Amino acid sequence: MGMAIEVKDLVKYYGKFLALENVSFNVKKGEIFGFLGPNGAGKTTTQKILTGILKPSGGKVSILGYDIEKDPLLAKKFTGIVPDETNAYIELSAWDNLTLMGNLYGMPGKRLEERADELLKMFDLYQRRKDRVKGFSRGMKRRLLLAMGLIHEPDILFLDEPVSGLDVQSARLMRKVIMDLNQKGITIFLTTHNIEEANQMCHRVAIICKGKIAAIDRPESLKKTIKVTQSLEVAFDKPLENVEELKEIPGVEEVKTHGDKIRLFTSDPGHIIKPLVIYSQDKNLEFISLNTLGPSLEEVFVNLTEERRQDINEKQ
Ligand SMILES: Nc1ncnc2c1ncn2[C@@H]1O[C@H](COP(=O)(O)OP(=O)(O)OP(=O)(O)O)[C@@H](O)[C@H]1O
Ligand SMILES: [Mg+2]
Repeated sequence: MGMAIEVKDLVKYYGKFLALENVSFNVKKGEIFGFLGPNGAGKTTTQKILTGILKPSGGKVSILGYDIEKDPLLAKKFTGIVPDETNAYIELSAWDNLTLMGNLYGMPGKRLEERADELLKMFDLYQRRKDRVKGFSRGMKRRLLLAMGLIHEPDILFLDEPVSGLDVQSARLMRKVIMDLNQKGITIFLTTHNIEEANQMCHRVAIICKGKIAAIDRPESLKKTIKVTQSLEVAFDKPLENVEELKEIPGVEEVKTHGDKIRLFTSDPGHIIKPLVIYSQDKNLEFISLNTLGPSLEEVFVNLTEERRQDINEKQ
């Protein structure tokens, strides 16, 4: 399978500040590739360089084999961009925004009109196509941005935090649309700080922290890399007087509370259940729920980003 995106030793300085340090990765054709990192990690910076909006200080980016600096027009022809902030003209209608974008890509009139119609219908904006974007809800604006990014039928779509600020329903709809587009063969580069989103949607994920790639792998493989592999999540009918007591159960490596639930980290959940039942009887507690959980991508993420922070502190 060919590569959709190749990134080699990307470096970006803002003045003296090093925002990207030798970032390298490849995205295969047909993948949903997640670019995951905490705030300020360098996600938007990377996406802007990959889409030719920002010049790198060093390194090389190819889009479908075209060098973004030597062949910018060819590279951009195949890419659609959905930025994190709205780039729609709010005084113009949805229709005008779409056709304006199509004109920028040099699309012929008839094809452009057909495509604009198709996208407006696909994103449930057709009835409102003549209305000014100013009056659109956040979800509608997002859908319009996505339609604008797709107007010229790109092979690769770059999305920067496509669901941030959306309510649960709009976010689900947006994720479904993105996955449908991928099913149709579009390669997706998805920038996000939402770990669960990356876990559910992406074939592979790169974790970036403070300008450096900490790991690249499939979400399931990343989960296997961390030491504590499993946990029991338990909720009792009453709050515990001393949660720390649970650490005394042999095999429990760590105890954490999440709201009304307690998680017991262990490499062997099966052996913890019996002593836990005895504990609950001693304390006169009733179980409300008991679940065995695998490692979450969140744990991998926290682990890796913590490691990177420590690494930087040691160097300073
Ligand atoms: N134009 C700029 N000038 C100076 N520094 C910048 C500029 N843009 C970004 N930075 C810095 O570069 C780093 C990476 O920023 P970037 O916007 O790429 O992060 P991000 O991962 O997209 O974060 P977020 O999750 O908050 O969107 C940050 O420390 C940021 O302050
Ligand atoms: Mg960003």
